[in-house]
Amino acid sequence: MGELFAVRWQERPDGPVVQLLDQTRLPGEEVVLDCADLETLAEAIRALRVRGAPALGVAAAYGVVLGAHTGWTPEGAAAYLTSQRPTAVNLGWAAARTAAAGPDPADLLAAARRLDEDNAEACRAIGRHGADLLAELVDGDVGLLTHCNTGMLACQGIGTAFGVARTVFEEGRMARLLVDETRPLLQGARLTAYEAGALGMPHAVLVDGAAAALMAAGDVDAVLVGADRIAANGDTANKVGTYALAIAAAHHGLPFLVVAPVSTIDPATPDGAAIEIEERDADEVRTAVGAVTLTPSGSPARNPAFDVTPAGLITAVVTEAGVARPVDEAGIAALLAAV
Ligand code: MRU
Repeated sequence: MGELFAVRWQERPDGPVVQLLDQTRLPGEEVVLDCADLETLAEAIRALRVRGAPALGVAAAYGVVLGAHTGWTPEGAAAYLTSQRPTAVNLGWAAARTAAAGPDPADLLAAARRLDEDNAEACRAIGRHGADLLAELVDGDVGLLTHCNTGMLACQGIGTAFGVARTVFEEGRMARLLVDETRPLLQGARLTAYEAGALGMPHAVLVDGAAAALMAAGDVDAVLVGADRIAANGDTANKVGTYALAIAAAHHGLPFLVVAPVSTIDPATPDGAAIEIEERDADEVRTAVGAVTLTPSGSPARNPAFDVTPAGLITAVVTEAGVARPVDEAGIAALLAAV
């Protein structure tokens, strides 16, 4: 496995590029994609070549700089990039924050690099807070279950939910990491298993429908998930299937932790009902990642890419600024005030 990264800025004699490790090609091939213009980067965002809320933020930040080199205003580039996917708040947050440092491309680049570094540092702090919380909640070695991909590929740093799992593993306290495959695009099976395997973590991939049964069997001590947008009241949008996991965890009396940087909290969104859920192409459901057709031809399919877990089902929100527990408006406001 080569060096794992999600996004990086590269100066070239013929102009700068935003480089992405194309996540649609993993785990089979490590293909680096050079985005020399905003249209290429926008396509990569829509196609999930770069994905995961924090990594989308870093991509948007460098994208605003790329825009400044290719004839866009910072504000125009930020608006264009923000419109590519609606649910992850980090995309628009990072684009706007970087654009505010303009219009000089050198100032924009300094702002994007700072955002990238802050993000990596936040992931390390999140790992520490989450591991400490798990030590409080669970005795002995910990069996964890996670959904989608929240590691280096989704964050650029060590990850959010995955960063907590990694910290627990490095402390020698991990019994196992159960990885939901995460239909339809299999971010768990393709990406989280790839990252866990590279680190030597004890892990196993399962079909999403097996999660509740493995909770009932006693294999899970806590569920860790990331977030795409956390509303002011703590309701949280994350990869579709998260809500069902939260219900199953509550039924089995298991801690359900949402793990994310404070930048994923959107104080302008009062609650989950106000979060726009991305509806993706139905062919993602009708096929196995495009390779095999699964349904009778012409079968209707629905493909909401995210769902909303109500705050009441979330044991804690873990961020770099600390932990909200219980998860309510006051707890979320305290996290925002702490950064
Ligand atoms: O559609 P994706 O792959 O971008 O969805 C990603 C997720 O839902 C992640 O759980 C979320 O962005 C958090 S990443 C730390």
